[in-house]
Amino acid sequence: MFTAADFIPKTYSSTIENGNFEWSAPSNIALVKYWGKKDNQIPANPSVSFTLNNCKTITKLAFEKKESKDAFSFDLLFEGKPKEDFKPKIRKFLERIEEYLPFLKDYHFTIDTHNTFPHSSGIASSASGMAALAMNFMSLEKKLNPEMTDDYFYQKASFLARLGSGSACRSVKGNVVVWGNQANIEGSSDLFGVEFPYAIHENFHNYQDTILLVDKGEKQVSSTVGHDLMHNHPYAYSRFAQAHENLDKLIAIFESGNIEEFIKVVESEALTLHAMMMTSMPYFILMKPNTLQIINAIWKFRAETKTPVCFTLDAGANVHVLYPENVSKKVLQFIKNELVGFCQNGQYICDEIGEGSQLIIDN
Ligand code: PMV
Repeated sequence: MFTAADFIPKTYSSTIENGNFEWSAPSNIALVKYWGKKDNQIPANPSVSFTLNNCKTITKLAFEKKESKDAFSFDLLFEGKPKEDFKPKIRKFLERIEEYLPFLKDYHFTIDTHNTFPHSSGIASSASGMAALAMNFMSLEKKLNPEMTDDYFYQKASFLARLGSGSACRSVKGNVVVWGNQANIEGSSDLFGVEFPYAIHENFHNYQDTILLVDKGEKQVSSTVGHDLMHNHPYAYSRFAQAHENLDKLIAIFESGNIEEFIKVVESEALTLHAMMMTSMPYFILMKPNTLQIINAIWKFRAETKTPVCFTLDAGANVHVLYPENVSKKVLQFIKNELVGFCQNGQYICDEIGEGSQLIIDN
């Protein structure tokens, strides 16, 4: 079994003065939700997600050796312009990962980042953003240690991304990613995400996710605060046990291709996540009236047409509409006819399962 110490490098065999990389990293949507954590970003329960394809962060990292090595030095550009208010989060990330990347103070970095989805769309950019940055840092570490294996590269990238934002560790590699120890999933770890290692029925290939933007405002409650509220939560113990059970159910569902059972697990997980928020102290509601309108419309449409479409939710009001590729036409028509009216400014984003992070520039 891995421990965090396995990601502390001993020596580097090579040196590099300057260069730049560019990586894209996708967002992901959890099917079994991560909600509640222990120290050092260790999840209280395992989770599994679909990696998205179109909602991505693209980050370029330019680096140049500097004289003094006593502090971090970096510039941050968002959509080509300096963005001072993102810097504290990045600095905190650098502090957390320095132990594992001891070269970070040797360089001045220019981090140039943008998202493919609209800013403040209510889609969290922390998962894709932290994953894209972690990939870039791993590319630099690989220059210093060219013998590094691909397995180590991706595991450590996910390990580092997790230290930036828990769910970011599921945005590194693979279509379906598990994060957190689960007895029946070989190789699963609390320290990093792994590609789901068993059979996935073709019903789930190219699964579609249309994200309905119900409320694009700032999150009322940060996920850090939300996770914390699971400490001493009256239902924490049974919730964490339920996540393990649901993940086991999904192993069988992925193999059999049983979409009816998939829908039950996925919708129940989404509602449970929100139920945990409603039953914590302090309590809060992140759904909006239109979130409920959409859920009811999906249930009605599913009952009437027998189309296997379902929803999931993040820690917010937006709705992810999930469905197999072979019903896309019908579902998109339904979304246009009946759901777009519940979206802020009629906005929605069409996405589907994707592969994970991708290297764009390696100089
Ligand atoms: O990665 P965080 O700390 O922003 O937490 C994300 C939590 C949920 O999105 C609500 C669920 C999940 O597993 O992605």
